[in-house]
Amino acid sequence: MIEALDVWFSYYDKDVLKGVNLKVKRGEVVVLMGRNGAGKTTLLLHLNGLLKPKKGEVRFDGSKIKYDKRSLFELRKKVTLVFQNPEDQILAPTVWQEVVFGPLNAGIEEDSAKEALKLVGLEGFERRLCSQLSLGEKKRLSIASAIAMRPEFILLDEPTAGLDSFGFKSVVKIVESLKGDGKGIAIATHDFDLACKVGDRFYYMEDGKIIYEGDEIDLELAEKIGVRIFYESYKARSNRSSFCKNNA
Ligand SMILES: Nc1ncnc2c1ncn2[C@@H]1O[C@H](COP(=O)(O)OP(=O)(O)O)[C@@H](O)[C@H]1O
Ligand SMILES: [Mg+2]
Repeated sequence: MIEALDVWFSYYDKDVLKGVNLKVKRGEVVVLMGRNGAGKTTLLLHLNGLLKPKKGEVRFDGSKIKYDKRSLFELRKKVTLVFQNPEDQILAPTVWQEVVFGPLNAGIEEDSAKEALKLVGLEGFERRLCSQLSLGEKKRLSIASAIAMRPEFILLDEPTAGLDSFGFKSVVKIVESLKGDGKGIAIATHDFDLACKVGDRFYYMEDGKIIYEGDEIDLELAEKIGVRIFYESYKARSNRSSFCKNNA
């Protein structure tokens, strides 16, 4: 389990996280929702040690994470983060070089990279240039790179932002498959449809604080805090039970 316990963080002198508590267990999908600027990305960056709390702590399986180079290297093999913008993550020229870079660096066999490409539907893309992929393909490639590390937890930052409905569906499939494999997954998103489809537990963030935590989506509250309600969710509005987990 990964836990954030009373985490405070500020960029310069502006408090961005204000005493946040959140946990992610293996085999569950946690969805973190909130408007732009609420602090979702900043919180995800704490869960794999890319940022260090100003106050409070982050624990992995009950132990406070350490921030020396070696500990962070070990932690990031177990907890991988997929950035919102694949351009921030993809560094290698070709798809194969990109997906195999992490595993080679961490002493993980190449098969893992092959399996990851297959899981995201990019088998056969190995020799393609990353720069020539569509946004949806780039997003899937960055997810593949994270999966190739064989992590126990995967953090996805806005995985469906900018994707069409095929892209959306493939992300849903990937998340379901990872969950079926027993991985713990945390998704920061304002994509209500994604939250409905895959979420087991939900956190709403506003202005650096968690203002709701539960295993059902609260539609009215979500709208109030600026989560965009998309068509599928809108259609289901008359049937509130469809906002229960795994039922949208
Ligand atoms: N690198 C940064 N430097 C300064 N301020 C930042 C930086 N990154 C984010 N912020 C600010 O922190 C707040 C939370 O941002 P973020 O965690 O990205 O929110 P979200 O992911 O929910 O949109 C915002 O006000 C944002 O402008
Ligand atoms: Mg963000």
